[in-house]
Amino acid sequence: MPLKDSFELKSYTRLRAEQIDKALNSFTPSARTKPKTIHRSMRHSLFAGGKRIRPILTLAAAEACNGQIDKAIPLACAIECIHTYSLIHDDLPALDDDDFRRGKPTNHKVFGEGVAILTGDALLTQAFEIACKSKPTSRYSTADMIHELSHTSGSLNLIAGQIADLEGEGQKPTLPKLKYIHERKTSALLTCCTRLGGMSSNCTPLQLQALTDFGYNIGLAFQVIDDILDVTQTSKQLGKTAGKDEASSKSTYPAALGLKKSEKIALELTEKAFSALKPFRGKAYALEAMADYLLSRKN
Ligand code: IPE
Ligand code: IPE
Ligand code: MG
Ligand code: MG
Ligand code: MG
Repeated sequence: MPLKDSFELKSYTRLRAEQIDKALNSFTPSARTKPKTIHRSMRHSLFAGGKRIRPILTLAAAEACNGQIDKAIPLACAIECIHTYSLIHDDLPALDDDDFRRGKPTNHKVFGEGVAILTGDALLTQAFEIACKSKPTSRYSTADMIHELSHTSGSLNLIAGQIADLEGEGQKPTLPKLKYIHERKTSALLTCCTRLGGMSSNCTPLQLQALTDFGYNIGLAFQVIDDILDVTQTSKQLGKTAGKDEASSKSTYPAALGLKKSEKIALELTEKAFSALKPFRGKAYALEAMADYLLSRKN
């Protein structure tokens, strides 16, 4: 664990991403396992070069609570499986109809729509199998952790957000509607990351509340920034097709408020996230550095 003074985010995220990749590899059936198509497809998307922001946040939250990385790894990997499934389905022709993801052709472009749907199903299910490997602590049972994951992924959160996103296409985005969509389709899973990291470390109720507030605010900021990058970056920089939101008349912050105001909101949300970390008295520096990076990211 690096000391605060010598903390360097790039080497930290590289190290944590390597640990996550290694664990994901061991938790996922090999590409030679039958039926080969599904396992090749799951691996195509899982190892396509995602930034691993969510699992890194889970591990960083565990560390902020003096926890061990090993105890948070299954939950971190479960979240990355859920995230990857949500992207495979999000890219389908029936939803956002995208051809590129993580700099590669989307899952359905390589394997076909039928396999892509089933790959999403398999990754979502696999997430819960992996999460079952997490150990209970004195404050939180494994069932508490699994409940956290399922509630976040279900029809009241991630799916609610995706439904509202779909139904919002072509409609004038109002701020309350936008907030509803972004809280659910994106912020809920980022909140789940930091909460589960804390729970795996037997965090106190005060720490859990701080991690919830932090996750919520960076989660909302994350989607506002994703919307901004869709306007300001090239497809090559993003690894996915830029300018798709406007083309599909999506409900986004830049569409509703313009780029300048959207940038201001992302900054304000990040500042709120920083204040939420006060109870950690400087010990949550990896989370602070992640919040900083998420605000200035270019992809
Ligand atoms: C993209 O998330 C989907 C959104 C919620 C906006 P990321 O930008 O974290 O995607 P990967 O995992 O790095 O591909
Ligand atoms: C994706 O939001 C949210 C989920 C997959 C739950 P977007 O549709 O904005 O993500 P990108 O831009 O395709 O990565
Ligand atoms: Mg979408
Ligand atoms: Mg999309
Ligand atoms: Mg987007």
